[in-house]
Amino acid sequence: MTAIETIRSIAPKACPRIAVVLGSGWGGLTQHVQDATRIDYAQLDGFPHATVAGHSGELWLGRVGPHEVAVLSGRKHGYESGAVDGMKGPLHTLQALGCEVLVQTNAAGSLRADLPPQSLMVLNDHINLPQRSPLVGEDGSERFVSMVDAYDPVLRTQAIAIALGQGIHLQEGVYAWAFGPQFETPAEIRMLAALGADAVGMSTVPETILARHCGLRVLALSLITNMGAGLSREHLSHAHTLSQAQAGSNTASGTLAAIIGNLNL
Ligand code: HPA
Repeated sequence: MTAIETIRSIAPKACPRIAVVLGSGWGGLTQHVQDATRIDYAQLDGFPHATVAGHSGELWLGRVGPHEVAVLSGRKHGYESGAVDGMKGPLHTLQALGCEVLVQTNAAGSLRADLPPQSLMVLNDHINLPQRSPLVGEDGSERFVSMVDAYDPVLRTQAIAIALGQGIHLQEGVYAWAFGPQFETPAEIRMLAALGADAVGMSTVPETILARHCGLRVLALSLITNMGAGLSREHLSHAHTLSQAQAGSNTASGTLAAIIGNLNL
């Protein structure tokens, strides 16, 4: 059975318009999903099997406010296998199910003193530093997809206004994709800042490219968990990222629920 057939057999009425990818620190969003149906990725053909601690693999179907959503709790990262198209199956499935918007979330390191740990940033652009693409192997002229305004300006403006209504100042910035899994060197962090990046992380960019290729509008948010290597005295580790992500998770998830619930599509 294809993933879409499985989803239709389990949740025949599901008609989500918004797909959401939850990164580290954002898992609390699932507490805001009403009337949830949960499906393990293992049941869904073409979905990844999560390997990183802190990432489960479950599709949640339900509602946030007035909107039907499909929440991907667990993503595949390029650093796990070297392949960067691990989220192709899930995103194509959710697009086929009716999603028009992809809301992505991640944890990221900051390159800016005025973007300290626990800040929330809305991406206004990205730098695909590894220059890897999940579209390699596609054919047709659609593969030459424009990446101008990849992060939908209308959704960005709405997200900033909705967050402000919750008392949260969402900063805007450029996200640089570092392949990982090792953290950056201090020299790499200085280079990324010189290139115009505001934050750095190991995800999101491949999914944005996949989403633009299949016509989804993208909104993406970063929870800043640390200053980039060399910008502070803290020791970077996955455990540190996860504990900082945990510390920011209530605010991040609550803000995300408010944004999703109030988006005007
Ligand atoms: N670098 C890369 N990815 C990250 C970081 C970082 O400093 N923090 C959280 N994800």
